[in-house]
Amino acid sequence: MTARILRGRVLTFVSEPNGPDDHESYRYIEDGAVVVEEGRIVSVGAWDAGLALVAPKADVIDHRPGLILPGFIDTHIHYPQMQVIGSYATDLLEWLNTYTFIEEQRFGDPAHAARIAALFCDELVRHGTTTAAVYCSVHAQSAEAFFAEARARDMRMVAGKVMMDRNAPPGLLDTPQKGYDESKALLEKWNGAGRLNYAITPRFALTSSPAQMEMAQDLVRQFPDAHVQTHVNESLGEIAFARELYPNLPDYVGIYEHYGLLGPKTLLGHCIHMTDREIGILAETGSVAVFCPTSNLFIGSGLFDRARMMAANVRIGVATDVGGGTSYSMLRTLDEGYKVLQLRGQRLSPIESFFMMTLGNARALGLDHVIGALEPGAEADMVVLDARALPHMRLKMEQAESLSEELFLLQTCGDDRVVVETYVAGEAAKGKLGR
Ligand code: GUN
Ligand code: ZN
Repeated sequence: MTARILRGRVLTFVSEPNGPDDHESYRYIEDGAVVVEEGRIVSVGAWDAGLALVAPKADVIDHRPGLILPGFIDTHIHYPQMQVIGSYATDLLEWLNTYTFIEEQRFGDPAHAARIAALFCDELVRHGTTTAAVYCSVHAQSAEAFFAEARARDMRMVAGKVMMDRNAPPGLLDTPQKGYDESKALLEKWNGAGRLNYAITPRFALTSSPAQMEMAQDLVRQFPDAHVQTHVNESLGEIAFARELYPNLPDYVGIYEHYGLLGPKTLLGHCIHMTDREIGILAETGSVAVFCPTSNLFIGSGLFDRARMMAANVRIGVATDVGGGTSYSMLRTLDEGYKVLQLRGQRLSPIESFFMMTLGNARALGLDHVIGALEPGAEADMVVLDARALPHMRLKMEQAESLSEELFLLQTCGDDRVVVETYVAGEAAKGKLGR
């Protein structure tokens, strides 16, 4: 098989940046080459060295002066909410009851689920995202449709059928037994198929009875390597309700703790209104707090406290949370994340942001051995960005003197229009989409 060489400016992280000037945390090659064969990266280096390594007949794709990065990773997103995005509500619970719990009922129809799953993968690719941790709906069919679509495209995805057995319309409820049986069957079928990973997905404590939490716990015990994803401490109304439903447990995180759902594979969406005890438990269990800035601002949930999490050594991911979130773009997401932290008096440098969207999120998912960095052996998921894609950005680039300034402009003004190409397992996927 012929190798493929991408030529351009290559940027990849090797460690978490210790602030804006930590140049040791990344590798930047001004005239670089990424050599790809059979869906994996074979080598990364300077253009000359790259050429010397492979047969002269290699297929060369010249992306200069584009910036070649690992594909973006989104650690929390709901595919059945594509038609919920931009829905007007007072707060989280109203938003869920008025729009989300109505819309998600349509995913019992496999044809609808298949249509949206395909459009969803298109949208991720259009925005440069190659991996996501995805919530399906309560219906097993919705997860089937999503996994089948991601598998056909050979994408690395983490996903799960939502488990929910109360406090939602009947068309959106399973039962403890049904949730368990369907989750288990889906996990056994799809976890490890191609590049797919299964996430055990109790939606949140409000929609899972204690009996369902016990069933989720049973799954986690049987499949300790599977991911777990849920929501916690997003809005004050939600927290008050959770406390009413589980009055004997110390706090909201304590509910998931009690049912054995915390650990290094656990992704907890939002984590905004946290007590010190709850933060301590996340650190102790290695669970991941997932920052969802566009969603938190749009729904009016609150401001994530990154510095407090970092001081306590809590692992952090960052995510769009579409359709509570308002953009599929990780660039837009980190731009809003930057603004949330500005309001908190906290700094987020562009180097740190780009780490978070790539290697940081790969680590959050425990997938950094296969994605998140451009290195030999890694899966060839990449995004190519052009900071001059828009006239006003081109103008600003006349003044940009450093890589850091370029990254900050991409984050501040960029979206899908700065994504020149997205490579999934070494294949150009964005160019095929059309408009
Ligand atoms: N909490 C429980 N379900 C959801 C959801 O779909 N979106 C958000 N933002 N929060 C939730
Ligand atoms: Zn969510």
